[in-house]
Amino acid sequence: MRRTISKATDTSIRLPFSSRNLSQTAGRMVSKSPFELKPKYADFQKVQASRPDFDPSLPITYSKTPDPAWKYGKGTSDPASLEKGHVEIDPSETGRPMISNYRLLVSGIPRPISFVSTVSKDGETQNLAPMSYFQIMDHDPPTFVIGFSSRPDRPKDTMKNLEETGECVINVVSDHFVEAMNATSLDIPYGKSEWGLSGLNVAPSKTVKPGRVKEAVFSIEGKLLEMKSLDYHGAGKAGKPFGSMAIIEATRFWVREDAINEAKDEVDLSVLRPLVQLGGIQYGRIRETFELPRPSLAKELEDKSSGLTNFLEDI
Ligand SMILES: Cc1cc2nc3c(=O)[nH]c(=O)nc-3n(C[C@H](O)[C@H](O)[C@H](O)COP(=O)(O)O)c2cc1C
Repeated sequence: MRRTISKATDTSIRLPFSSRNLSQTAGRMVSKSPFELKPKYADFQKVQASRPDFDPSLPITYSKTPDPAWKYGKGTSDPASLEKGHVEIDPSETGRPMISNYRLLVSGIPRPISFVSTVSKDGETQNLAPMSYFQIMDHDPPTFVIGFSSRPDRPKDTMKNLEETGECVINVVSDHFVEAMNATSLDIPYGKSEWGLSGLNVAPSKTVKPGRVKEAVFSIEGKLLEMKSLDYHGAGKAGKPFGSMAIIEATRFWVREDAINEAKDEVDLSVLRPLVQLGGIQYGRIRETFELPRPSLAKELEDKSSGLTNFLEDI
């Protein structure tokens, strides 16, 4: 279904989705990826059924830090970590499949998830897809990066739209719409919208054409500063696909009214309930936290008991 969004007040618009049109074109346009991930479980529904229900009411709690008595020079609170050796892995080793690096990296690096809304150049199709190769790079100006992996037949629609229009909305993923988010990762043909199949609602943006996810607690309107190709080794010349990185500057923030403080400078974690992506299909919710104030050099040097002067005698 094709529809543009009017820049109006914050009222939600539900986008209908034409599954008939999609199934007509899907067979033609879906190409088999040579990077197909093998499912982790033969029957995920069976595994899921054996697990306890998700409890959205569980509170966010605070504990002490792992080692409240830590002193400068002490290192780890788990000395046993030093007894283990490490396995060396060359990412470019001959015969190592690219998918092994994918699996290694996504299991070893927890990532926040950006849920990116874009619109096609002709303004006809709204696109929605999750991207967890994502981070904030700076707050002044508020700058973000999103990494797009290559796809054999065509670039990610999000990347194409972003490159052609220069606009997007980054929605932070909260646990209450994770299934809807996951559905939008379906590799549907370009020109088809994921909004309808997700069942999520679109709310109008102020500074960009793509709409926000109304259900999101925190959304960021953004404009593209730069799309960088990650083709440093001539993949393009060899006719192979390659990744890209978008650098985006925020032009507007939207925070749910019950999640923002009066000063408009803090999002309430207990409302945000953000998810992190861990492995390819594994997610983490934030349940237990602790606080660790950042040290100030002047104060730590003043406080003789801190022990910092033992390491910085000449300051
Ligand atoms: C949680 C999650 C995170 C993802 N992160 C990325 C990512 O960072 N980069 C990427 O290229 N694809 C990522 N994907 C896969 C894309 O969402 C998927 O390829 C999707 O079809 C792209 O949609 P598009 O073509 O409409 O942009 C992710 C998928 C999921 C479920």
